[in-house]
Amino acid sequence: MNAPDLSNHEPFRWQQRGSSRVPFWVYTDAQLYQQELSKIFYGAHWCYVGLEVEIPNTGDYKLSHVGERQVLMVRDRVAPKDRLLDNGIRVVENRCAHRGVRFCQTQHGNARSFVCPYHQWTYKLNGDLAGLPFKDGVKDGDAVNGGMPEGFDVKDHGLTKLRVEVLHGLVFATFSESVKPLADYLGPSIMPWINRIFKAPDGAARKLTLLGYNRQRIPGNWKLMMENIKDPYHPGLLHTWFVTFGLWRADQKSRMVMDEHGRHAVMISRRNEADPGSAAAGVRQDVTEGVTSFKANMALHDDRLLDVVPEAWWKIDDPSNSGADITPTVTMITLFPSLIIQQQVNSLSTRHIVPRGQGEFDFIWTHFGFADDTPEMTQRRLRQANLFGPAGFVSADDGEVIEFSQSGFASKPFHRALVELGGREVGDTDHMVTETLIRGMYRYWREVMETDT
Ligand code: FES
Ligand SMILES: [Fe+2]
Repeated sequence: MNAPDLSNHEPFRWQQRGSSRVPFWVYTDAQLYQQELSKIFYGAHWCYVGLEVEIPNTGDYKLSHVGERQVLMVRDRVAPKDRLLDNGIRVVENRCAHRGVRFCQTQHGNARSFVCPYHQWTYKLNGDLAGLPFKDGVKDGDAVNGGMPEGFDVKDHGLTKLRVEVLHGLVFATFSESVKPLADYLGPSIMPWINRIFKAPDGAARKLTLLGYNRQRIPGNWKLMMENIKDPYHPGLLHTWFVTFGLWRADQKSRMVMDEHGRHAVMISRRNEADPGSAAAGVRQDVTEGVTSFKANMALHDDRLLDVVPEAWWKIDDPSNSGADITPTVTMITLFPSLIIQQQVNSLSTRHIVPRGQGEFDFIWTHFGFADDTPEMTQRRLRQANLFGPAGFVSADDGEVIEFSQSGFASKPFHRALVELGGREVGDTDHMVTETLIRGMYRYWREVMETDT
């Protein structure tokens, strides 16, 4: 083999047409990553920051991130007369207006106001500057020393406030003034799948319960996590757990759905009906033959991990075939750029992607259930959550292959990934033997990154 010719390498030019061949430098280039932060995370996109149920009481707050910028999701005071119109959820940047200190260090808490430790500037829950020491100077006899200059107005020096929208208890924020309202941003093909989980039959938000968190740091580019959840090719191959115990296999009834831009997606799938309690249940030879992760002799010591109980809300009127029902057992929703919403049988979670440079991201899992769950259902959701998170029976595999991918790219940035299963075009499908959702994301990514703003 000849050595590659690097003389024509143009690091910021995606050479091929379309989005089926992804240059490795999109995962490894530090300068490009800075552009992604400004065009994607701080640009005209909505980013997930948390669940409303995480801050139930006035003064409750949670530290979160939009891109790399740390923010606080806060429950502000709201006068009773305003409560119908104002849910009180604010998102402010955790950076003091005086000299930039990250004033809040606590992951979750309750506060009457926020006080920066450095010079004790004090902010209201909504981010307004309430006051600061020595604003009017310090008396020295008849004289006054120092103080802020004439014309200094506390109104001009609040925290950076983000635009906020809450959708059925999911809280999103953006630094952008121009991004469309959240429902339009998500689009009509994605919304029914969010509604299915979060909207009660009477139209209100379903009341959620918080079951717990997992956090992990994954040494890979943030887009690899989005790709992983837009990739129905791998679960029945990589994941021993899925293929052996029948939770995800290539012959399942599936559908891949995107928004009009290709940036958001839903992988929808229905588990085969065969009894899933043992290995080899419902096996079709052609989808397990030669699959090295399939372990015919593998058995569980505690089969309660597979104690799947169908729930009424799983069934909805089919959004793409009105009048017919659809009852998926799995929906994996990717909301570009930072959120994955997972329903894998009875296990529910949000997964928040927080980038940290081009080669690393934090991944925060919030496991939840519904306030009207029985104690048995809560236990079931918690048991099934063992499949996910950093050490999950399934998800540990994903963290590892993302790490392997990144190290593969780093040593050969001029090469490219091949994303051509199911063709080179972008479009919804009614099967899972395709990489169309990844092509959709990169088609959109190119539009954003190759446009001068
Ligand atoms: S930096 Fe926050 S009060 Fe000075
Ligand atoms: Fe996976």
